[in-house]
Order: sequence, then C-alpha cells, then structure tokens
Amino acid sequence: MASTTQSTSFSLLSLLLLLPSLSSPSPTPNPQNPTPSPWPSQFHSVLFMNQSGTLQKTDLWYDWPNGRNFNIIQTQLGTIKYDLEWNNGTSYIYTLDSDKKCRVLHFEVGILRPNWLDGANYLGQKYMDGFLCNVWEKVDFIWYYEDVDTKRPVFWEFYTGFSGHVMTFEVGKVLEDANWQAPVYCFKEADKGESSLIESMADLAPSGRLMREAITTSLMY
Ligand SMILES: *[C@@H]1O[C@H](CO)[C@@H](O)[C@H](O)[C@H]1NC(C)=O
Ligand SMILES: *[C@@H]1O[C@H](CO)[C@@H](O)[C@H](O)[C@H]1NC(C)=O
Repeated sequence: MASTTQSTSFSLLSLLLLLPSLSSPSPTPNPQNPTPSPWPSQFHSVLFMNQSGTLQKTDLWYDWPNGRNFNIIQTQLGTIKYDLEWNNGTSYIYTLDSDKKCRVLHFEVGILRPNWLDGANYLGQKYMDGFLCNVWEKVDFIWYYEDVDTKRPVFWEFYTGFSGHVMTFEVGKVLEDANWQAPVYCFKEADKGESSLIESMADLAPSGRLMREAITTSLMY
C-alpha cells in the first residue's frame, strides 16, 4: 500500500517538473474570453469523485479566512478519510475508526487561494452533466467547468483522469471549529522521510498549490 501511493505521487511529481513554467499573458477583460469566478472565501460542497472507476463522495469545506481546507472522503462502501489542510503547509490525513491512522505532511505552499484559477486558458463552452459550461484549463493540470448562468463550478478533472462532479455548492457555509481538530494520534509521530521529499519537490514545481491538491489526493488511495 505504502509503496503504491509513493510511486503514484512520485510519478505525479516527475510529470509536473516537466511542465513549462507559468507565463500568463496580460489579463485584459474580454467578453469573448471569460475568466473563471474566484472561489467564495467560504463554502461547503459535496462532490462525487471518480478516479479510474474508484468512486467517492467528498465533503469539501473551504475556509480561506481561517486558512484551512477540509476534504472528508467517503469511499464507496468503505472507510471515511479526513484530509485536513492548513495554510501554513501542514496536512493531516487520518481516519477516525479503530485503526487510528494518521499521516502528517508538510508542504511549502498553503491551501488554494480564492483566485487560484487566475491565468487559466479559456477553451470555450461545453455541456457537462446537463449544464452549459465555460471551460478552462490551467497548466495542463486541471480542466475546470463552470455553469454559464450561475457561475457555479460543475465539474473538474485533473490530467490523471481524477474527476469531480459538484453536487452541492453552499456559499458561506462554515464547518464548526470543533471539527477542525485532528485526533491526538496525529501528534505522536510524523512521516518525516516522505514529507521532506514532498517539501523539496514542492519548491521546484510550477504550481505548488495544485500539486499539493494532487499529492494529497493521490495519497487517499
Ligand atoms: C469513472 O471514470 C471512468 C473513466 O476513468 C469511466 O469509465 C466511468 O464510467 C466513470 N464512472 C462513473 C460512475 O462516472
Ligand atoms: C499549522 O497549523 C496547524 C493548526 O493550527 C498546527 O496544528 C500545525 O502544527 C501548524 N504547522 C506548523 C508547521 O506550524
């Protein structure tokens, strides 16, 4: 299990390092070339995720003012996994069952900023899940679909094929503080070897925040 996840994240990293660095041309407002809506500073979203046929339901709690982001992941007929990310670079990935598993990772980057889609390339309009969407891609890493009418996200897909369908999008909804406390067994030992690898790679990568997402996502399997 450990070797599988490690090689997954490693190949993600290798690919990322080959990506050309970000050069966003001057962003002049243009009705023919719409830009993605920034994320609301706080929201709750239920996502149906699919990685090569492995399905999960994710509760995403994005909380920028408090510098935190939470993915609560229900695997299909399986365990619930918690991926709690702080803007200081620390991520806690744990279960709350009798296994008491926790991994602590340290990244050079914080959580996604509300404007993390700035500089994405507009690809035009396309129907997704029955909604007419504007579509963008960013650094050949993520494809992002936003409803033309409501400007809400509908779908996104990473270059690995890992995709998410947005089922709910509740702007302003915040998870109570008590739920943002990682369990006590997270504070006993940290996985130092792997963390320092990820940290040093994060320095070099063109789009660290997206990479943090991808790494934590790949560690979920
Ligand atoms: C999940 O993704 C795979 C492609 O990776 C696709 O064949 C399959 O139909 C998808 N499943 C669902 C439920 O969307
Ligand atoms: C980051 O913040 C979290 C939550 O306050 C804390 O548990 C963690 O130790 C912090 N990490 C660092 C490297 O300071």
